[in-house]
Amino acid sequence: MSPPLAEQRLRLLHLEDSELDHHLTLAHLRRGGLDVDAVRVDSEVEFLRELEPSQEWDIIVSDYNLPGFSGLVALDLLKASGRSIPFILVSGEIGEDTAVEAMRNGASDYLLKNNLARLVPALLHAVEAHELLLARQRADRELGEQKQRVHELAQHLQTSVESERAAIAREIHDDVGGSLTALKFDLAWIARHSDSPEVLARVNSALETVSHAIEASQRVMHNLRPAILEQGLVAALQWMASRFEKRTGVTCEFRSRYDHLTLPAGVPLVAYRTAQEALTNVTKHAQASHVQIDLTLAGGVLSLEISDNGRGLNHDDLAKVRSFGIRGLHERAGTVGGWVDLSSGPAGTTLILSVPLEMMSEELDFELAEEPSAPYDPTVWGNI
Ligand SMILES: Nc1ncnc2c1ncn2[C@@H]1O[C@H](COP(=O)(O)OP(=O)(O)O)[C@@H](O)[C@H]1O
Ligand SMILES: [Mg+2]
Repeated sequence: MSPPLAEQRLRLLHLEDSELDHHLTLAHLRRGGLDVDAVRVDSEVEFLRELEPSQEWDIIVSDYNLPGFSGLVALDLLKASGRSIPFILVSGEIGEDTAVEAMRNGASDYLLKNNLARLVPALLHAVEAHELLLARQRADRELGEQKQRVHELAQHLQTSVESERAAIAREIHDDVGGSLTALKFDLAWIARHSDSPEVLARVNSALETVSHAIEASQRVMHNLRPAILEQGLVAALQWMASRFEKRTGVTCEFRSRYDHLTLPAGVPLVAYRTAQEALTNVTKHAQASHVQIDLTLAGGVLSLEISDNGRGLNHDDLAKVRSFGIRGLHERAGTVGGWVDLSSGPAGTTLILSVPLEMMSEELDFELAEEPSAPYDPTVWGNI
């Protein structure tokens, strides 16, 4: 911790044309118990030289009237220099207007020459207030940096969770899927080459078990990595909407002008996960009877809008300590340069993901929808 101000040696830049007044000022400071290193200047050129970054000052005390120069001009120069140094204006006859102008321009304080007894407290107060200001700016900056780091970490986690999921899905597909398929072939072979009813009964039950295992691993795999996205975002959302409707009984309509959109890497998965979380929220919280999903592209911005006609949500819902769904969506959107807006009212909740796509819409590769595409089942591994 730095020592109390009164015990520090303060670096004082004194803008004063009278040598006598300068010594008078120093005498006041000494009498007030202040130890100062003072430099006196009395022209614009000298003042500007002392404002060079290499010069360090704790305080500037400036006379109001100097030949060819003035305290208010000095204050302007200080401001223009970008340096942050407390500034006290001293004058023989300071009027209220001048004082107000000086304070408005960033002076820390002003005093009359015939009231120099106020100089020490004014100076200590100005230096202290300035130190507090610097400390607060430092704290704000540090907080901003911390926030940025947390933000980056959260985004990094979102991205690494996705790549972990993709790796696990691949392993399930290659190892588990491959083995189960081989097992199914072998069982089918045994069934074909056996006449024993007991063996056949066992083999058929084993085939049923294997089929269950295949379905389960396909489900797990799909949850880990939506293979349907290989068909494009439009197909994936279409499939998601129809599956949601079948599973929950809540009508779900998907609308898009496009049959196919070629989007930058990462965007389809972010959009897919956003829709997934929004629909999960509808099931868990909304008590809705209808959901609308719209995918649009306007002005180079991709928008995915999911609206329900449920009970709506409020600020308290979003502030829940252990709810990370929507917070995660904000971070996820950030990984592709997008953002999420949420609006809610008695008529329901709308969540919008917006992602500006660097290129203009004409350059994007898309096909307009003709017929609604046939429902697609992404969990198929090929014929086995
Ligand atoms: N579509 C919705 N309708 C009504 N309430 C919602 C909806 N989506 C979210 N909420 C409310 O917002 C809260 C936070 O959502 P979320 O961040 O996804 O966390 P979680 O679903 O894990 O609770 C939910 O607990 C719920 O109270
Ligand atoms: Mg949720």
